[in-house]
Amino acid sequence: MHELKRVLVVGAGTMGSQIALQTALSGRYEVTIVDTAPGQLERARAQNQKLVDRSVEKGRLTKEKAEQALGRITDSDNLASSAPNADLVIEAVIEDFDAKKSVFESLGRHATNDAILASNSSTIVISRLAGLTGRPERCCNMHFFHPVTVMQLCEIARGPQTDDDTVETAMEFVRGIDRTPVLLQKEIWGFIVNRILFAASEEAMRLLEGGYATAEDIDTAVQKGLNWPMGPFHLLDFSGLDIFYGALNDRRQQGEGGEVPDVLRELVEAKHLGRKTGKGFFDYTTA
Ligand SMILES: NC(=O)c1ccc[n+]([C@@H]2O[C@H](COP(=O)([O-])OP(=O)(O)OC[C@H]3O[C@@H](n4cnc5c(N)ncnc54)[C@H](O)[C@@H]3O)[C@@H](O)[C@H]2O)c1
Repeated sequence: MHELKRVLVVGAGTMGSQIALQTALSGRYEVTIVDTAPGQLERARAQNQKLVDRSVEKGRLTKEKAEQALGRITDSDNLASSAPNADLVIEAVIEDFDAKKSVFESLGRHATNDAILASNSSTIVISRLAGLTGRPERCCNMHFFHPVTVMQLCEIARGPQTDDDTVETAMEFVRGIDRTPVLLQKEIWGFIVNRILFAASEEAMRLLEGGYATAEDIDTAVQKGLNWPMGPFHLLDFSGLDIFYGALNDRRQQGEGGEVPDVLRELVEAKHLGRKTGKGFFDYTTA
C-alpha cells in the first residue's frame, strides 16, 4: 500500500471545504485546497473556522487542535502548480462533466504518476474521467456525504482499470480521517446509497400518484416502520427537488431507469423545489 502525506482537494465549495477540514483534523496529512472562483477560498476558510469554533465550544475539540488543523490547510488558486506536490487528489468541483474533464486533464499533465486521483462526484463514474489522465489505474470515485464532518460514510468505487493498490490506499485514507469506507467493486450509476434512496423515493412517489396514501402518511410509515430519521418526501424537500430531478434525468441519459414521476416533474416546473422555495411536497410557508 502507498503512503500518503500530502492531499490536494480541488474545489472549495460545500464538499471540498469540509473534506479538506476532515482530512486536516486527522493530523495525518498536509492539505492544499484549490479554487478558482474569486472569494471562495476565503469563504471556505471562514466556514471551517466557524465549524471548529462550534466544536471547541461544545468540548469536542481543543482550541489547540482546532488551530493546528486549520494551520495544516494551504489555499491555492493554481491547480497546475499544486498538483505535482500531491500524493492524493480529491476532486470536488461542481457536478458538471466539462468542469471535471478539465480538472482531470490538468491532473494528467501535472500530478505525479503515482498520485491517486479521486472524484467526489455523486453521478459521474470514474471510467468517464480516468482515461483523460493517462493513468486510469490510479483513479477511483471517493464519494463523501454532506456534511462531511458529520456523515461517517464514504463510498469508494473502482473503475474497470483501477488497481488494487489504489483501492486499498483510498480505503485506508478514509479510515485514517475517521470516516467509514465501503467499496463498490464495479462502478454503477448512483453507487450504493443513492440507488437505494432513489428506489425508495420513486416508490413513495408511485404510491402518492396512485392515490394509495398521502405524502404525510407515507413519510410517517417509513419513519415509524423503517426507523428512518425522516420520510422520503421530507428528505426530498430538504435536499431540493431540482437536485433529485436532475439526477433522475442524468440517470436516464446514462441508459438507466424509467420515466421521471409526473408529480416530481410538475413540482419542479412550477418551481416548487422544497424547503428552499418554501414549497415542495409540503408547504413550509405557514410553519
Ligand atoms: N453537496 C452535496 O450534498 C454533495 C454530496 C456528495 C457529493 N457531492 C459532489 O461533490 C462535488 C462538489 O459539490 P458541492 O456541493 O461542493 O459544489 P459547490 O458548488 O458547493 O462547490 C464547487 C466548487 O468548485 C469550484 N470550482 C469549479 N471549477 C473549478 C476548477 N476548475 N478548479 C477549482 N475549483 C473549481 C467552484 O468555485 C466551487 O467553489 C460535486 O461533484 C457533487 O456531485 C455533493
